[in-house]
Amino acid sequence: MRDVEVGPETLVLGIETSCDETAAALVYGGVDVASSVVSSQVDLHAEFGGVVPEIASRAHLESLNPIVARAVVEAGVSEQRIDAVACTVGPGLIGALLVGVAAAKAFALAWDVPFVGVHHHEAHLYSAFLEDPSLEFPLVVLLVSGGHTMLVEMQDHGRYRLLGRTIDDAAGEAFDKVARFLGLGYPGGPAIDREAERGDPTAIAFPRAMLHDGFDVSFSGLKTAVVNHVRKHPDVSTPDVAASFQAAVVDVLVAKAQRAARAVGAKGLLLAGGVAANSLLRERFLDACADEGIRGFLPSRAMCTDNAAMIAAAGWYRLRSDGPTPLDCGASPNLALPWISS
Ligand code: KG4
Ligand code: ZN
Repeated sequence: MRDVEVGPETLVLGIETSCDETAAALVYGGVDVASSVVSSQVDLHAEFGGVVPEIASRAHLESLNPIVARAVVEAGVSEQRIDAVACTVGPGLIGALLVGVAAAKAFALAWDVPFVGVHHHEAHLYSAFLEDPSLEFPLVVLLVSGGHTMLVEMQDHGRYRLLGRTIDDAAGEAFDKVARFLGLGYPGGPAIDREAERGDPTAIAFPRAMLHDGFDVSFSGLKTAVVNHVRKHPDVSTPDVAASFQAAVVDVLVAKAQRAARAVGAKGLLLAGGVAANSLLRERFLDACADEGIRGFLPSRAMCTDNAAMIAAAGWYRLRSDGPTPLDCGASPNLALPWISS
């Protein structure tokens, strides 16, 4: 295998296939995005109201090679210029992950460059560095997406402490389930966000579970409260329900993130994951950072949702700290991040 000196010129191909986005990107030095191509399968899954694993794997299989080819062309380089191939190895849907992992290993072998297995959550933590490499540690990251909801203290590159997580549904999952119940379609987050613009967020006092307890969150009671309220009041205004539900989710997330930042003496608070696209969350998050007198960072919407630039970025840091990943590394649907305890 070609020896790689990991530095600012090191060009990493990132590949992401853990759920319903097929993505490839080329990133120099872990921060400089030369290309980022994302093909969303959302239309294929919309009629089922959620991601269908078999459909996801098949779509990844069909689109991955053309997506990688496009990422190479858009970066204006030849394949020979690529120094390493990084790919999400977990967590995610097993069949979907396997498509990316098999392809990434094949590219690495064919080009004689290192393969780097990347943890999907670690990659989300890196999405902010792509847009602002000057961020200083310690940072608190609120990672909120369809599959994950967690508060993480990032002490340094590769040093993460889990402060809190959801004990039931992920925040995005709650948006998707409530939107489906309200007949607003899939994916539910953007639909509720739009609907809420016309509603009154104080119309219905939905519960704010565990608002003052620790850093864990829970959304399943809120989802049930929405269902019960609508069944009891069938004529209720849907925009009011959407706005009141959204306000309850955002109140809890922002309160916990703000408290976590204070508890660890964070220099900054970052938002990551698909739900970070939510308008109210973005606004309230920045207000909380201003209250605390710390830096708030909101990644662009393209970097919030699943993409391969964040995989290439996390891959660059992993290659620099740990070297290449052995090729017998498999795909792990329940892969855990190695958390530190203090
Ligand atoms: O990070 P992501 O693209 O995929 C996962 O790894 O899960 O996040 C997708 C999730 C979906 O649940 C979607 O409904 C939610 O992010 N989402 C939003 C918004 N845009 C996307 N939730 C609330 N408000 C939004 N504007
Ligand atoms: Zn994700």
